[in-house]
Amino acid sequence: MKECIPHGGILINRINLEEEIYEDRNFVELDILELSDLELIANGGYSPLEGFMNKKDYESVVLNMRLSSGLPWSLPITLAVSKEKAMTLGIGETINLKYNGHIYGVMEISEIFSPNKLREAEHVFQTTDLNHPGVKKLFSRAEYYLGGKVTLVKRPEKNQFDSFYLDPKQTREKFKQLGWNTIVGFQTRNPVHRAHEYIQKSALEVVDGLFLNPLVGETKSDDIPSDIRMKSYQVLLEHYYPKDRVFLSVFPAAMRYAGPREAIFHAIVRKNYGCTHFIVGRDHAGVGDYYGTYDAQKIFSHFSIEELGIQPLFFEHSFYCKKCENMASSKTCPHNKDSHVILSGTKVRGMLKSGIHPPKEFSRPEVVEILIKGMQEADTNFQRV
Ligand code: ADX
Repeated sequence: MKECIPHGGILINRINLEEEIYEDRNFVELDILELSDLELIANGGYSPLEGFMNKKDYESVVLNMRLSSGLPWSLPITLAVSKEKAMTLGIGETINLKYNGHIYGVMEISEIFSPNKLREAEHVFQTTDLNHPGVKKLFSRAEYYLGGKVTLVKRPEKNQFDSFYLDPKQTREKFKQLGWNTIVGFQTRNPVHRAHEYIQKSALEVVDGLFLNPLVGETKSDDIPSDIRMKSYQVLLEHYYPKDRVFLSVFPAAMRYAGPREAIFHAIVRKNYGCTHFIVGRDHAGVGDYYGTYDAQKIFSHFSIEELGIQPLFFEHSFYCKKCENMASSKTCPHNKDSHVILSGTKVRGMLKSGIHPPKEFSRPEVVEILIKGMQEADTNFQRV
């Protein structure tokens, strides 16, 4: 079997839960995105990164989609601090990284720099429009970035699905146990609908196993919450997938909505989790109309498969066709749009919130049940607050 090599050659491990903690050190308070990045750097998900990016890597990534070493890497991984905070910090200093007052990590500061956010937005998101959720987030962050290696000293708390949080080391072991040589990774921030199922199963026809790896970190407020999605994935797998060919565990990262750039990032990170293949369908990690339907596929042409180390599998926009009586895409279906069951994400979320069942050609009834129940409960809880 050909071992799937982590990006950059070795799986990084910067977790030390025994590390001695000094409460009286200077500290930086992380936001939820930075906390998830801290964990993913430490557990090797972001190999070869060992810390938040210094200026050289940051600029090289923004401008060239490569680390300063030349290795492909498409998204900046940064830690933001205010000018006032930056004034209290020194190069070479070890600081605590806190979230909600608790220490989760330590960092040795190697650089403090001021990023050009306009340029970051133009290159990474291809827009400076503040209506874009990723751009909005970028400009809402503090104005200085800290570079330096990190160590995770405490695991971020998990929710009721904690058994689905596996580090790349663990997923790699799992794939070995399962005897899979070829593994296709699937990223999603949505429930798995029939189109997702179709492209996953098409891929499953040619690889040994499917790694269903939903993103459960921070998403925009109108995306379906991850706890509701988790229940829907489990019921879907139970009813419609062969048990020994799919493995479900979560990807704790935040969504950036960077479309094409994020597709490259998602692929590289899934390689670190042990995947040999990665699915990229229509408008991967996109939002609104900011990216062309297949931009997230075209961007792969900037890199050779050898340097990425993972094989992307591209899929056309898929749908159920009433005339074919089958799932299909323009590659396989000759009929026109009137025969195709296509619903936008916004439309589906609206239906679910109102308790209306999307057709079974769009989503499995068992999945719809879970989603409607979950959305209604979430709504009731929200109104109670
Ligand atoms: S994403 O933001 O996590 O990419 P989503 O959960 O909608 O969003 O998509 C997961 C994967 O399925 C992505 O690779 C996306 O391109 C693909 N995809 C989603 N819907 C379709 C569809 N109808 N046809 C083909 N691919 C799709």
